[in-house]
Amino acid sequence: VTAAHVTRPPAHPAPLPWLEVALESVVGDRLGAGVYRRWVEALSLAGDERVLEIGAGAGACARHLAAAVPRGRLTCVEIDPRWLAIARRRLTACGDRVEFVEADACDWSRPGGFDVAILHFVLHDVPAVRRPMLLRGIARSLCPGGRLCVREPVGHGMSAEAMRAELGDAGFHPTGDEVRATVPLMGRTLSGAWHVPR
Ligand SMILES: C[S@@+](CC[C@H](N)C(=O)[O-])C[C@H]1O[C@@H](n2cnc3c(N)ncnc32)[C@H](O)[C@@H]1O
Repeated sequence: VTAAHVTRPPAHPAPLPWLEVALESVVGDRLGAGVYRRWVEALSLAGDERVLEIGAGAGACARHLAAAVPRGRLTCVEIDPRWLAIARRRLTACGDRVEFVEADACDWSRPGGFDVAILHFVLHDVPAVRRPMLLRGIARSLCPGGRLCVREPVGHGMSAEAMRAELGDAGFHPTGDEVRATVPLMGRTLSGAWHVPR
């Protein structure tokens, strides 16, 4: 096993650095809340979808996703129990409409279980050798015709071409055009939607 394969934190990880937690709280939960909300609004969810968010972190995007599907369900998969614990606290009010799964998403899928999947600032965090497993797992987890919505930072080690190629290899087809935008607090980003065949 090489370092590139090790994505799971130790069984009893040290507490998250306070500065990271404070920064996430400011960007994810306070100042940046509008940035996440606007991206989620632009997904034009109908409100009854079964949504899968991979790499939900502390729930910055998840809380807007949960609000966007009042008649649906949200499943948050996150590898790091420390972030997942914060997400759980943040979304307590949503009750059992939101499910939290601690797992390495590269080894996790729920065949046909979701209408929409979300990857928000996650793909570049996953070692390149593991990304095909992650994307194939997401494709399996979507129902026929299901949609994957992605937003990634630009310039974090994965080019747009590589992202497109990896999504194509996993069986995804582009839905519309990709959007490049400079987003407050996030910098240059690339977002787009892909779907699996019907
Ligand atoms: C940059 S953060 C983004 C968090 C959240 N999506 C957001 O936009 O605020 C990336 C998250 O993906 C999680 N992650 C990375 N690799 C993962 C994997 N293999 N399975 C599940 N989660 C993963 C990290 O632990 C981290 O919480």
